[in-house]
Amino acid sequence: MTALDITTTDAWAALKAHEPKITPLHLREIFADDPARGAELTVRAADLYMDYSKHRVTRETLGLLTDLAVAAGVEARRDAMLRGDHINTSENRAVLHTALRLPADAALTVDGQDVVTDVHDVLRAMGDFTDRLRSGEWVGATGKKISTVVNIGIGGSDLGPVMIYQALRAYADAGISARFVSNVDPSDLVGKTADLDPETTLFIIASKTFSTLETLTNATAARRWLLDGLGLDGEQGTAAVAKHFVAVSTNAERVAKFGIDTANMFGFWDWVGGRYSVDSAIGLSVMCAVGKENFAELLAGFHAVDEHFATAPLAQNAPVIMGLLGVWYSNFFGAESRAVLPYCNDLNRFAAYLQQLTMESNGKSVRSDGSPVSTSTGEIFWGEPGTNGQHAFYQLLHQGTRLVPADFIGLSEPLDDLPTQDGTGSMHDLLMSNYFAQTSVLAFGKTAEEIAAEGTPADVVPHKVMPGNRPSTSILAPKLTPSVVGQLVALYEHATFVEGVIWGIDSFDQWGVELGKTQAVELLPVLTQAAAPAAQHDSSTDALVRRYRTERGR
Ligand code: F6P
Repeated sequence: MTALDITTTDAWAALKAHEPKITPLHLREIFADDPARGAELTVRAADLYMDYSKHRVTRETLGLLTDLAVAAGVEARRDAMLRGDHINTSENRAVLHTALRLPADAALTVDGQDVVTDVHDVLRAMGDFTDRLRSGEWVGATGKKISTVVNIGIGGSDLGPVMIYQALRAYADAGISARFVSNVDPSDLVGKTADLDPETTLFIIASKTFSTLETLTNATAARRWLLDGLGLDGEQGTAAVAKHFVAVSTNAERVAKFGIDTANMFGFWDWVGGRYSVDSAIGLSVMCAVGKENFAELLAGFHAVDEHFATAPLAQNAPVIMGLLGVWYSNFFGAESRAVLPYCNDLNRFAAYLQQLTMESNGKSVRSDGSPVSTSTGEIFWGEPGTNGQHAFYQLLHQGTRLVPADFIGLSEPLDDLPTQDGTGSMHDLLMSNYFAQTSVLAFGKTAEEIAAEGTPADVVPHKVMPGNRPSTSILAPKLTPSVVGQLVALYEHATFVEGVIWGIDSFDQWGVELGKTQAVELLPVLTQAAAPAAQHDSSTDALVRRYRTERGR
């Protein structure tokens, strides 16, 4: 099917014609002309309150952006995704992460399969396993309760669980902590296991394909670490592996080949993309730590935003608005990146998680029919929690030459609070005063006149001018509950989807990561075999390899 080139539509042309009216406007003027916008350009998605008033848009712009979503067929595409059409065209697959959080009484049959029953069967198995682990009924080979689970996985089989485990730190209530090993750099496994006791450690090998080199290499090394630590081999070793290794995968055959009993395997399906899989069995490490009830609450949060995305009109639909604003800045202002700034330390891996979600999804140069895109795609996501970022890179956000739209995420109620220096205030209020102040300063800045009026020497005034006019979204949630974490992830999942539909790309494949993997496998023998031929690749790579081999004494 031919993919729509969005730049050929009337809706795109209307935005192009409109953009010169907006670029010269300062947010100070935009707010002065429309004083109600601060209260009105907001939307509620479940518990998330999203204020998008501090964007360089007028109500007319928002109308034109909504027309763009209509022209791209966002609603039809969304409905196709939700009912299980094969919208991942290059892999001919359904894209059904939303089915992972459907309630048990929902109905959805895809390709002849009742997916809701399948999902809840796995959730029940995960719940039974984690109950046994948390209660101490499941013990290691020497009869001791498991106190640490080590998730071995990479990409989507790592970033989601790490991020959510850290986000739900306060909900870990059974004395089980989790660690995450992903990198094939041996330092990762060595460092993360150095102080662990094999008798009380359980490994979760998480890999959708169960063929990822990093994961299988680390899993093999972990098995060696366990057996050496327990001093077991042969049949006793095999029995110990059954007590200390479980798998999460779509590939039972490879799990069995690796030596993990498939009775201890938790499955999922090829319609769950790796970067959309944290709410599948890939979240097992999270469930071990926080329990099945909190995990169910997390899924309910995802589902609440799915419902909002599925039903809210385009102009009041939070992920749609977020996606359209992403397109607005990327394609009409030339913005290259988006900062995500959680004023919440427990969300410290959120930006890293979003990097895979958004950049693996939308970093594409061809549309779904293989034709080249005619506009830039894929925002570069980055960020750190406030207030740390304020003391690192905010200088560039405030006074640099680049436009970096930013998402500020804040919580009204803290999970922890402490008194401020003088003992009278709340550290959480202090944190949040920064959250509110930063978006205001970014938007409205401070003029040369205002700075001069403070008695600043004339030669210093230009250095202190705060230009403002820097757009941001404020997302405010009541508290960092499991549900709110699920809501936040679903918000970004669907915003990513909306951008992908507008650009006409397949947001669910990731062919661009394959060639590097193949070449690494090809290069490995060249690094290790003493007699390997000197010239294999390009002259740069060959010279680097020669130097490496010399330094390794080969
Ligand atoms: O290399 C990219 C990728 O395919 C991701 O999309 C995926 O999340 C990751 O590798 C890990 O894959 P797997 O879960 O199959 O080990």
